[in-house]
Amino acid sequence: MNASTHGQSRKLALVTGASSGIGRAFAHRLGSDGYDLIVVGRRRDRLDELVAALPDVVVRPLVADLGTDVGIQVVANLCAGEELSLLVNNAGVAHYMPFTELPAEKANELLHVKVVAPTMLARAAAPGMASRGAGAIINVAGMLAFSGPASLEKLPLRRAVYTGALAHIVALSQVLHEELKPYGLRVQALCPGVVATEFHQRQGIDLSAIPRMSPEDVVTASLCGLALGEVVCAPGVERAELLEAVSSAGLAAFAAQAPRLAERYRAFGVP
Ligand SMILES: NC(=O)c1ccc[n+]([C@@H]2O[C@H](COP(=O)([O-])OP(=O)(O)OC[C@H]3O[C@@H](n4cnc5c(N)ncnc54)[C@H](OP(=O)(O)O)[C@@H]3O)[C@@H](O)[C@H]2O)c1
Repeated sequence: MNASTHGQSRKLALVTGASSGIGRAFAHRLGSDGYDLIVVGRRRDRLDELVAALPDVVVRPLVADLGTDVGIQVVANLCAGEELSLLVNNAGVAHYMPFTELPAEKANELLHVKVVAPTMLARAAAPGMASRGAGAIINVAGMLAFSGPASLEKLPLRRAVYTGALAHIVALSQVLHEELKPYGLRVQALCPGVVATEFHQRQGIDLSAIPRMSPEDVVTASLCGLALGEVVCAPGVERAELLEAVSSAGLAAFAAQAPRLAERYRAFGVP
């Protein structure tokens, strides 16, 4: 379908990591919700399959490697130049490995895909959205963002860089939500648990035997959460007040700081 067959009112969404899993589910849902799409990934054949699967939707595939500065810049240029209604920063890799064995280039790739790319694409898209007074940014993080304090015995996944990246996404989204709210924009950190996609399989981990959420349910939660005004959307957490408790505890600690050295350090004596 040609873009020119549509009127001015068509909404445009850009989805990264649309070649499989949650990103592909976002593309399908947004396409049926009336969005035109720009879909980003490295696997051209998968993006072409998506175009073929959505014959009634304007879908523009873009092959880009978000693990590189050049790839991020190409997508950022589109985010800045197109009138996006929605940016879905979804692409991701995890590279679960012991930190001391994680190859530096894998750590660098992870940080590009999960930290630099979402940050810079949001930075590129937000000014246009703000000037139009409309738009939303969904940043896909994950429940591991809250897992930092878990002991290795309880959570043996070696996940330091990935967890740190997800925590960045949550904090970035929370602060951006506040900053962009006056312009009428919405920002969400989407925090799925374990989802039935290719994500773990790509790392050689077989989680097919454990219960997993479908990517379609994750997308349903995200879009409902956006309508509900949720900044942190956790599709599998029944008690939303737990997420509010995390935020409240963080804000309480933040508010409790003082310039005076805390007693437990003074009592320790001067080293
Ligand atoms: N599955 C889970 O259990 C789970 C749980 C919590 C959060 N998440 C998050 O959900 C998001 C989507 O993951 P998924 O579960 O749908 O896994 P997936 O099926 O493996 O999809 C990952 C997507 O990211 C894209 N991607 C990876 N590296 C990229 C790169 N360098 N440049 C461009 N695109 C890249 C992949 O496309 P190409 O390979 O074609 O480039 C693919 O479309 C990820 O950000 C992940 O952190 C997943």
